[in-house]
Amino acid sequence: MEKDSASLFGKSIVALENFSSEEIRLVLNTARKMKQIIRRGGDKKLPNLRGKAIVNLFYEPSTRTRTSFELAGKYLGADVVSINSSTSSIVKGESLRDTLKTIEAMGVDAIVMRHKAEGSADFATKVVKSIIINAGDGAHAHPSQALLDLFTIEQHKGRLAGLKVAIVGDILHSRVARSDVYAMTKMGMKVHLAGPKTLLPRFFDFEGVKVHEEVNNAIINADVINVLRIQLERQQAGLFPSTREYSQVFGINEERLRLAKDDVLILHPGPQNKGLEISTKVTYGENSAIQEQVQNGVAIRMALLDLTLNGGAK
Ligand code: NCD
Repeated sequence: MEKDSASLFGKSIVALENFSSEEIRLVLNTARKMKQIIRRGGDKKLPNLRGKAIVNLFYEPSTRTRTSFELAGKYLGADVVSINSSTSSIVKGESLRDTLKTIEAMGVDAIVMRHKAEGSADFATKVVKSIIINAGDGAHAHPSQALLDLFTIEQHKGRLAGLKVAIVGDILHSRVARSDVYAMTKMGMKVHLAGPKTLLPRFFDFEGVKVHEEVNNAIINADVINVLRIQLERQQAGLFPSTREYSQVFGINEERLRLAKDDVLILHPGPQNKGLEISTKVTYGENSAIQEQVQNGVAIRMALLDLTLNGGAK
């Protein structure tokens, strides 16, 4: 029997390094219930977070993450406000500390935050008492993305432990890869990382993780391939040869897919550079769960908000 002692009530979600497998399990189980609510026809609105206020504070661009956090809060009955850094006092030079303090003074229960600086979400937990949910801090962490990746995999494969996952691409600049590695190894998955040498960090060489320079070695017999976007905005010039060469050597196309298991599941956090890291055929092919990841993102974010602000769905 699984212990039900894990709780995220009142906690901020900054990274998954210190998450226990019981806490991950709690989020996945809660997300399963949330997904049923999203998918049932008619009224999606729950009363769980009625009277709670959530602010989305995004200093970096986002489509999926910001919209799904916003909808997640609204589906749970909270009041949700999204602040756009380009139309707020941030453009007048207001510091992160002052912005956080200002938001807190309005009686906000949770702040969902995305910022280009690594460590900014952790900093926020020290500045304000509101719950902080990290929606991406530089190249450091993106916990809700890793949880939705796990959720999507488990929904398709019925399990996590023992599965081989290949994470391919710009590992070095990817907060998704970092959070995936911690969460996936914690749940007993075998993680294989591959990408150009200049985009592969060495510090991931720990138990449960194998680093490859040859992408085909990572993909052979994989149950899951998570394709990452080349993060051009976080790179200095010259870290990979040319886009044409990259797509030839590392791009995930139908031919390369044949090395993996027949029922390999294809993930990509989005947004995609089509024709660079992934081909259009693979994106829209029968192995792809990329579109489903987006819906699962709403369910996972509902779970995180409900567990941290309310202690869990009743
Ligand atoms: C990811 C991000 O912002 O870190 N996108 C997302 O949240 N869906 C990955 C990326 O930008 O490549």
